[in-house]
Amino acid sequence: MVVKAIDFMPQILGDFIKEPRLILIAGHPGSGKTTLAMTMCLHAMNAGERCFYISFQEDRERLFKQLAGVGIELKPYEDKGLLKLIKLPLVVSEGAIQELVEGISRDVMGFSPRLIVIDSITPLLISIKDDAKARGLLQNFFWELHRLINGSVVLLAEVPLGRELAELGWAEFVVDAVVVLKYRTYKGLVERVMEVKKVRGRELNVAELPFSIQKNVGIVFHQPMKLSEIKSSKKRRLLAVGPQGPYLKESTGPSIVTLIEYPPELTLSLPLLYSILLHMASSNYGKLLIIEYWSPEDRIKDFMMDSLKLYGADEEVIKRILDNIVIRPLNPTAYSSPELFSMILDIVNDVKPMAVIFHDVALPTKTAVDVSYYASLVYNLLLYLKSIGIDVVRLCSRVDSFTDLYKVMSDHVVSIRCKDSICDDYVVYDYIEGKIVRRSWTELEEEVKTLIGYLKNQIPTAAQVK
Ligand SMILES: Nc1ncnc2c1ncn2[C@@H]1O[C@H](COP(=O)(O)OP(=O)(O)O)[C@@H](O)[C@H]1O
Ligand SMILES: [Mg+2]
Repeated sequence: MVVKAIDFMPQILGDFIKEPRLILIAGHPGSGKTTLAMTMCLHAMNAGERCFYISFQEDRERLFKQLAGVGIELKPYEDKGLLKLIKLPLVVSEGAIQELVEGISRDVMGFSPRLIVIDSITPLLISIKDDAKARGLLQNFFWELHRLINGSVVLLAEVPLGRELAELGWAEFVVDAVVVLKYRTYKGLVERVMEVKKVRGRELNVAELPFSIQKNVGIVFHQPMKLSEIKSSKKRRLLAVGPQGPYLKESTGPSIVTLIEYPPELTLSLPLLYSILLHMASSNYGKLLIIEYWSPEDRIKDFMMDSLKLYGADEEVIKRILDNIVIRPLNPTAYSSPELFSMILDIVNDVKPMAVIFHDVALPTKTAVDVSYYASLVYNLLLYLKSIGIDVVRLCSRVDSFTDLYKVMSDHVVSIRCKDSICDDYVVYDYIEGKIVRRSWTELEEEVKTLIGYLKNQIPTAAQVK
């Protein structure tokens, strides 16, 4: 699920407007410190509180422009007197630090902000590196500042590239909260995570949160789902296996995850049609969502129309089926894994389908930056979908042994294999509830016709398939 930083930071840090806190946000250059700090300002200003932003790096114009690009328009707040942004020159001596501190204090007294951001403390600390007295003065000042305003002070700190953490020493001990923004690029993708190191007085239940910085939107977190228990879901009509293959029992059961694996040349063919029909039938024309990793929407629709016609569907059935399918093509390589999953969740929440078909899961799996991380996200997504009563079909070309892992994450496995080494015919194995049913490709085609027949009339019952 996607959560905007403006709503999420108070959940992480507590009410930093009402409760005075000294907060440290550390991170590599470009990791999003400035954007996050401005978002926190925005949160304060939207609540009618004043924010004082002290920059030692960028001037006002550049900052305003950069932040406008991510949807943060600061001018209206400045006009209303809620924002004061100043750029200060760097200082190098103890005397100058004294002056700086006094200057800031005067500004603070005059403006009475509820939030102060110092962007960033790193060049200041470096410039007085060898001056222990100046350092002490500065540290003490930061500490006093949040008590003085009875609000929060956010200190930003640069972590040099290639290093995990800044050598902050003192800051980590005195501050109330430490947040580290991390940033890495891999295979052309940017992966950002926020690590919450500590928050005084709060239980930490999230350690690392993936996020992205989006044009016109700003920082959004991709909240991973972690279900600590495996819950049983709403009851659904149950899929059972008879001599002719799966059918629907009158009785009901929880939603299920089906994996259909096949040789890679079969991707846009009978397995897809079969899984669509099966779930149309089990949900009685309920909404079906197809997350499509390769083809554009019209190609899938054309395929559906042509093959439904081929197997004897009339116009009305075709129309009803297509009306109840939502196809969302996604290029999995354009997103980091957490981003991809939070997008899928948002689509699911938006469409509210009875079932989701993923086609073809070999693609995102094989292109994932970190396959085992990807698999753990899949696992949590499947548990979540099951817990809210959504059936899942995962169509998967057999390109590697990882499909074995996916079998473990399924309640029903359909395995389509070459009949012999020439591979001009296939055998279909259904594994469900401890039973194995073997069918030929022709029988699968017959079953597709039967399902179309059921959809024309009614849903099959145990009595009918006997
Ligand atoms: N309009 C935009 N759309 C998307 N990302 C942006 C936009 N503007 C800046 N960014 C991203 O935001 C990051 C800069 O964030 P910033 O808060 O300035 O980082 P830091 O203060 O840690 O150096 C860059 O990595 C950049 O890619
Ligand atoms: Mg910055």
